[in-house]
Amino acid sequence: MKSLSDIGMKDKKILIGITGGISSYKICNLVRLFVKAGADVKVVMTPSAVKFVSPLTLSVLSKNDVVINTFPDIHDYSKAEKSALSTWHVNYGLWADVFVIAPATANSIAKIEAGICDNFLLCTVFAARCPVVLVPSMDEDMFNHRITQRNIESLKKNDFIVINPVYGELASGLIGMGKMPEPETVFSFVKNHFFTARDFLGKKILVTAGPTREPVDAVRFISNYSSGKMGFEIAEAAFKRGADVTLITGPVTLKESEGIKRYDVKTADEMFIEVKKHFRKQDVIVMASAVSDFKPLDKSDKKIKKDKKENFKVEFVKNPDILKFLGDNKKKFKLVGFALETDDELINARKKFKIKNLDLIVLNNPLDEGAGFEIDTNVVTFLDMKGYEKLPLMSKSEVADRILSKINEIN
Ligand code: CTP
Repeated sequence: MKSLSDIGMKDKKILIGITGGISSYKICNLVRLFVKAGADVKVVMTPSAVKFVSPLTLSVLSKNDVVINTFPDIHDYSKAEKSALSTWHVNYGLWADVFVIAPATANSIAKIEAGICDNFLLCTVFAARCPVVLVPSMDEDMFNHRITQRNIESLKKNDFIVINPVYGELASGLIGMGKMPEPETVFSFVKNHFFTARDFLGKKILVTAGPTREPVDAVRFISNYSSGKMGFEIAEAAFKRGADVTLITGPVTLKESEGIKRYDVKTADEMFIEVKKHFRKQDVIVMASAVSDFKPLDKSDKKIKKDKKENFKVEFVKNPDILKFLGDNKKKFKLVGFALETDDELINARKKFKIKNLDLIVLNNPLDEGAGFEIDTNVVTFLDMKGYEKLPLMSKSEVADRILSKINEIN
């Protein structure tokens, strides 16, 4: 079983630099995210950062010594490098695959722009050969100040990568721009930007997402609770891993990344037509949409008025089973379906796997805690020719990565 760390962070060396801003407390969580993903993490801090967050905490979380002073005394948390003080910052700079400075204060940003190296963190910036990511975080007026803006622009021109702050409540109590993005955002940026596997480069993948809407009359339809999140996460993950992605989606409120080819449909019939246009060219097809199994037999072109009836019946007829059609017409592509089951899950999913001629089926039970529609997590079980494996509760984006890795394992 591959873990998320196999997708790119395992044994990667992440150096985290903390400068003296109130959002330093968030870095404990950022360190944990990198460590959990399998990275090797070291932390360096400016002397002011120590006033906001304890080096001991960061040392425990990172499982490494934390360095603060260029010329350490006995109280410092370093040990191994003490013998090589003169080149200490150089060692750190050369060790890292990526150096993330979060939060980056106006003061430290200004010093870097001016080439000042009056603490260990700043010396390391100039000794680093790896990419340096700055996460500015400060009061809105400090951030918007034209000197800060000029410094940030100048650093960007000199190959520093900047993750912009976000709008929100600031430590001062004011609301504005300057808040540090959540640790998860910084982690995902670093992972996606530097370490995401490009194992789908050159591959074409078709993903369907969202619900379908089956009209009853001119203003009403029947549908389901699908939000499209799972399908969109698969499309995004495949795109980041280098795939040429076609996304066919029912009505959703989600937005795709620039570069994904998106086709919007409403009904199952429309989805079927669109799938038929694209399926032959694909290497992988993932049907993550919640296609309505039935549609009203007659659709009134006008609004059905209530005054003429006390009740009325709607007769339903079956929609095409798009996944079954793809299984029956399978060419070179690998075919992945979903199974939504509340009873006899494994038995029913296995039946669908066979009848629809799939390579992988992703089973989920919407009654499981943390699974189902409209939420960001899922609990899934993979079934393929070899057997099945149940995955723990995880975010839909993690599930998406797992599905793609699993597809790559299937011959
Ligand atoms: N599917 C499809 N076309 C349909 C219905 C479902 O392509 N008309 C696909 C879904 O996108 C999913 C898989 O088939 O990948 C299984 O969907 P699910 O709703 O779990 O099962 P059904 O085949 O519809 O059977 P049932 O509703 O009886 O469980």
